[in-house]
Amino acid sequence: MCSAPAGMPAAFIERLGGPDVIRYGTLPVPAIGGTDVLVRPEAVAVDPVDAFVRSGAYRTSTPFPFVLGRDLVGTVVAAGAGAAGFRPGDRVWCGSLGHAGRQGATSGFAAVAADRLYPLPDAGRDPVAAVAAVHPALTAWLALHRHADLVAGETVLVGGGAGNVGTALLRLAADAGARVLATARPDDFDRCRRHGAADCVDYRDPDRYARIEALAPDGVQVWIDTSGRHDLPATVPLLAHRARVVLLAGLGDAADVPLPVGAVYTRDVRLVGFAISNAGTAELAAAARGVAALLGTDRLAVRVGPVLPFGQAARAHRMLAGTEPRPAPGRIVLVPDA
Ligand SMILES: NC(=O)c1ccc[n+]([C@@H]2O[C@H](COP(=O)([O-])OP(=O)(O)OC[C@H]3O[C@@H](n4cnc5c(N)ncnc54)[C@H](OP(=O)(O)O)[C@@H]3O)[C@@H](O)[C@H]2O)c1
Repeated sequence: MCSAPAGMPAAFIERLGGPDVIRYGTLPVPAIGGTDVLVRPEAVAVDPVDAFVRSGAYRTSTPFPFVLGRDLVGTVVAAGAGAAGFRPGDRVWCGSLGHAGRQGATSGFAAVAADRLYPLPDAGRDPVAAVAAVHPALTAWLALHRHADLVAGETVLVGGGAGNVGTALLRLAADAGARVLATARPDDFDRCRRHGAADCVDYRDPDRYARIEALAPDGVQVWIDTSGRHDLPATVPLLAHRARVVLLAGLGDAADVPLPVGAVYTRDVRLVGFAISNAGTAELAAAARGVAALLGTDRLAVRVGPVLPFGQAARAHRMLAGTEPRPAPGRIVLVPDA
């Protein structure tokens, strides 16, 4: 039985474009099918990929009016007869809405397929801190375990280790028994170490590659740079034989990166492209099991920046685009209007 009203507030688009195409108004509460769950979002993250979907930079099905927002933490309102395991009042989370025809999360209610919804382990967990960690954590788990096939004892280099995805990569790689190196600005070295980095290198140091080589003389097995800046001619020689380079950032920026073909194939190096949007429900569920305990905890302290009401979704996207000042660095999170 559903106790939801007929209409709900929502941040949505009716065409692709810049942040100002985002409207805030009333839409019908979505109907749920037998294997769906109706969720009342408590907090929704604003991810770079939400902007790519909104603008059309990432082509995907967006049936209009299209509600934005990929990640939510919320409470179950109603569950279909085939949505086993979910009951009204359960705290839950999801990281795969707002894409491929699925409506997003920035609304009074969201219909979520049960196989994309996961229980939040601790009922008291802060929804803002938890939702801020969802996208980085799922991305990092899939990068390390689905695409890099990380093995305990290997050396992992995380470029941009103090960032959102970078922090999650450090934590998950260290938890998996890897030796973890990070590049970051020196102000962030302590933060990287707290999240599992054994050593840090300043990404602006002209000698950074020599320093990494000195720290990993036998080569790096897994190299993941989250900054979107890729210098394969400089970095491939620092890799061990059978190393994996996971490419997950740089949409647009990295189009013309030269590829040192000989150095890649003579080392049996794998270059693996990966976008979380392509992950299937089984992969996402495995990642969710791997990260759920970390969401909203000090062990994965993703930086939270501005927390804004749903009605300011367009402003949040302008902040993401850098066309409006961001009052605080860190992940932008939207919460229902009071
Ligand atoms: N493929 C996927 O599935 C997927 C999923 C999620 C995110 N992403 C992408 O991943 C990227 C990172 O996202 P994020 O949220 O983690 O961003 P973020 O928090 O801004 O992290 C980027 C990090 O890179 C650092 N950095 C800047 N210049 C650098 C350089 N030259 N060398 C090394 N590091 C440098 C930044 O440091 P400072 O703070 O010092 O500038 C920052 O810590 C984005 O492009 C996003 O679109 C991809």
